[in-house]
Amino acid sequence: MDPIAATLSSEEKIVFELRSLYRRFGYDKYKMSKFEEYDLYANNKDFLVSDHIITFTDTNGKLMALKPDVTLSIVRSSRDSDGLRKVYYNENVYRVSPRSKGFQEIMQTGLECIGPIDESCVLEVVTLARRSLELISEDFVLTVSDLDLLAAALDVLQVTPEARAAILSCIKGKNPHELRRVCEEYGADPQAVSFLEALTQISGPPDQALAALEDLGFNEESLAPLKELTERLQETGEGDGLRVDLSLTGDMNYYNSIIFQGYVNGIPAAILSGGRYDRLMRRMGKRSDAIGFAVYMDMLERYYAVRENPAAEQTSPRRMINIALPKGRMGEKVYRFFAAAGLECPDILEENRKLIFENEEAGVRYFWVKPSDVAVYVERGAADIGVCGKDILLEYEPDVYELLDLKTGICHMSVAGPAGFLDDPRRTLRVATKFSNIASDYYAKLGRDIDIIHLNGSIELAPLLELSDVIVDLVETGTTLRENGLKEIETILPVSSRLIANKASFEFKYGAIGSICEALAKQVKTDD
Ligand code: PRP
Repeated sequence: MDPIAATLSSEEKIVFELRSLYRRFGYDKYKMSKFEEYDLYANNKDFLVSDHIITFTDTNGKLMALKPDVTLSIVRSSRDSDGLRKVYYNENVYRVSPRSKGFQEIMQTGLECIGPIDESCVLEVVTLARRSLELISEDFVLTVSDLDLLAAALDVLQVTPEARAAILSCIKGKNPHELRRVCEEYGADPQAVSFLEALTQISGPPDQALAALEDLGFNEESLAPLKELTERLQETGEGDGLRVDLSLTGDMNYYNSIIFQGYVNGIPAAILSGGRYDRLMRRMGKRSDAIGFAVYMDMLERYYAVRENPAAEQTSPRRMINIALPKGRMGEKVYRFFAAAGLECPDILEENRKLIFENEEAGVRYFWVKPSDVAVYVERGAADIGVCGKDILLEYEPDVYELLDLKTGICHMSVAGPAGFLDDPRRTLRVATKFSNIASDYYAKLGRDIDIIHLNGSIELAPLLELSDVIVDLVETGTTLRENGLKEIETILPVSSRLIANKASFEFKYGAIGSICEALAKQVKTDD
């Protein structure tokens, strides 16, 4: 082995290999400074993964930013007269991690193809995305979609931009029950909603997905970009690991046409993301078109640590379906849903303090976790699926799929206070709660100034001890409120248990998760 290569870590080797791959296809290195003028990002906040940006004032008094993204800088530096410009980059960017909520310096590699983009450019970029994944692992999935098909279905709904954003967020979360509810709330035509629902359920190998799209009535012309791309990929031997998934979304102010996302088995979130962004080009005053993608290299560190440790690899429960169940009042009921779906594990009902239960034969492993932690286990891939309340999903906004409303664990979130409580709008309202984000959003919409007192339990005590004026908490039977002399003032939202899935597990355990979801859905219907 080359002595230099032998000293490189696995992540460094991948960076090196990606660079040579991109160079072989004629991409030149793009090097940028650490800083950019803040305006560049402020004008395109929705394009960024996170809208938190580290800023400072330079020696001339200009507001600058530590770059949270590379694409915007490349676009800004491109000129329409340049013809076809192909660049790759390997840069550190500074952004808030959606998980830790703190700023992180992360290494990002990617490429952009800007200019007169034709089918061959799209094919080349998607091929390079696929090969990038293949360099990391043979076990990968590249999901592809055509955003224009989704845009057409959304246009038919004729709803406000606010409703459209809410609907897109349900689609992104593979959340059909919430999609229907939101559409109804905004008064969308029920027929158009059924069409959208059917469209966003389409997910599978290209041939099957395209046939399903034809069945839905899309004509040849509208299916051409996706059809030609997937057929060409298959013809050029780049078809393995390819899936078409119409629930894949992107911000339609920036992206259009072909978009894609890449997963590697063992990494709990998408490691690659890209697409065509002609709309961003127009917003930045450019006539040229563009397509590109980024690989999030920060996710590789942990991946290689596990892969290079054979012991960890062996104990890794990747073969089985790992399910996080909420410990406590809902736990047993939720387990029975799974048992009835053929995933029994009788030991789980024994009186003991064990937290992990396994049924090798059924290929299932259960964990008892605190209800508020279920989403963390699933988001980070320690569990493939889990069940938690809608309250937790709204409070923590984990990046997971919400596959099914189990219509159990039904309760609601309310504002409650001492009997006879009258809100004095001249004073800041003191609100005690476990759900600080939900409570803050609720009062922000009302324009009410509040002081949040975050507690972890026994919330009803707070107004009794004059710690707060009111509480925001879950109400099921109403007993706790009654027995403590409190009354409901306002209902904020209904709550029930939801089946959630890790986004990468969904790709690699698609068959098993799909069947579990179907089996659980049948029980929901009979329960109704
Ligand atoms: C929840 C909630 C209420 C209570 C409502 O608390 O926070 O206190 O249940 O149920 P009810 O309307 O049927 O009386 P939980 O039992 O989870 O304990 P906690 O107060 O420690 O959070």
